[in-house]
Amino acid sequence: MLMSRRRFCHQSLVALSITPVLKKSALAQALRSTGLKDLYKDDFLIGTAVSNRTLQEEDRAMLDLIAREFNAVTAENCMKWGQIHPEAERWEWELPDRLVRFATGRNMYILGHTLVWHSQTARDLFRAASGTGVITRDDLLRKMEDHIRTLVGRYKGRIAAWDVVNEAVDEDKGWRRSRWFEILGPEFLEKAFHWAHEVDPKAQLLYNDYNMHNPGKAKFVAEFVRDFKKRGVPIHGVGMQGHVGLDYPDIREFEASVLLFAEAGVTVHITELDVDVLPQRGASGTAEISTRVEYSTELNPWSDGLPTEMQDRLARRYEELFRLFLKHRNLIDRVTTWGTSDDESWKNNFPVPGRTNHPLLFDRKKQPKPAYRAVAALKTPS
Ligand code: G3I
Repeated sequence: MLMSRRRFCHQSLVALSITPVLKKSALAQALRSTGLKDLYKDDFLIGTAVSNRTLQEEDRAMLDLIAREFNAVTAENCMKWGQIHPEAERWEWELPDRLVRFATGRNMYILGHTLVWHSQTARDLFRAASGTGVITRDDLLRKMEDHIRTLVGRYKGRIAAWDVVNEAVDEDKGWRRSRWFEILGPEFLEKAFHWAHEVDPKAQLLYNDYNMHNPGKAKFVAEFVRDFKKRGVPIHGVGMQGHVGLDYPDIREFEASVLLFAEAGVTVHITELDVDVLPQRGASGTAEISTRVEYSTELNPWSDGLPTEMQDRLARRYEELFRLFLKHRNLIDRVTTWGTSDDESWKNNFPVPGRTNHPLLFDRKKQPKPAYRAVAALKTPS
């Protein structure tokens, strides 16, 4: 498990050998040139998701911040099927290539997100070649194989890990009835893992999902992971997305799932961490992207900034989460936040469009928040 860290973190290992002797008062100064990645260098990788906007505009301030604070990056959107491979013969390599160039140049661990997902697919993916009706099983398998071979092959040796399959489980109801499942049955997962492994045998291959604290969902995932391992399907890790709130889920449920996945024989990656601070209605806790709740001003109370007591609550929640991650640092390979600064978070538009959310470690001016300082302080001797 630690191999990936050793391989990708030597820059940061050199950079912060001084941290053990830092006094708290020196923290701010040290963090100006180094970042969370250095404080956590012996524990796990610290990652973020990079938005299309950052890559399109080559936003220097954001890229510098990412390079200082993080040693792992995930493509937030630009490697999803619908964006990178919108038509059978059309591939959009520009943004993914920029991300891979940026991260490779800085010796960062790169996550490919994601090979097979029911959402954000290409428009014609499930359509028969004739243009009418549903694609046949064989044709869909062929498309999937071609997609995986081309994409994993292009970045072989540079992308360290892939979210091979994303969100294939429907809470505690078992397999999600997606188009993939309806046409191919559960076999689509193992095919995807086998093909990705064939192309890049050194890449870490992950199954990634949300609400993984849900005991029914976690049990179902742990069971298929165990079964995969028994039958030689190359799966190496489970991604617990971690789209959580200030008071959900109970941290003990989250911990139970970390232990369950580790017992099933894989490493755990926290892949999409953010903490929703806004009032919930109905769809609380889900990350299913099709969920929508109508906007109202009561649901958007902090559009002018997060008050101090809420900043404190957010900081305590991040602290609680990172304490848990540290407790299980031997089981957890990476902790990635889903974005860097609050302005770019998908949580501003989900599940209620047009709100001002504050779920990340950096504010809208890219300044570290109290939550950031709470996470940093856990690794700073008092
Ligand atoms: O690219 C188009 C652009 O051409 C168009 O002008 C614009 C207008 O809305 O939309 C752009 O696409 C948007 C895309 O993000 C890129 O910015 C989509 O509308 C929007 O729905 C999409 O949202 C992303 C969502 O996944 C769906 O793919 C979020 O940014 C992204 O944070 C979110 O991430 C997912 C993970 O992949 C899987 N786990 C859950 C997580 C949150 O939903």
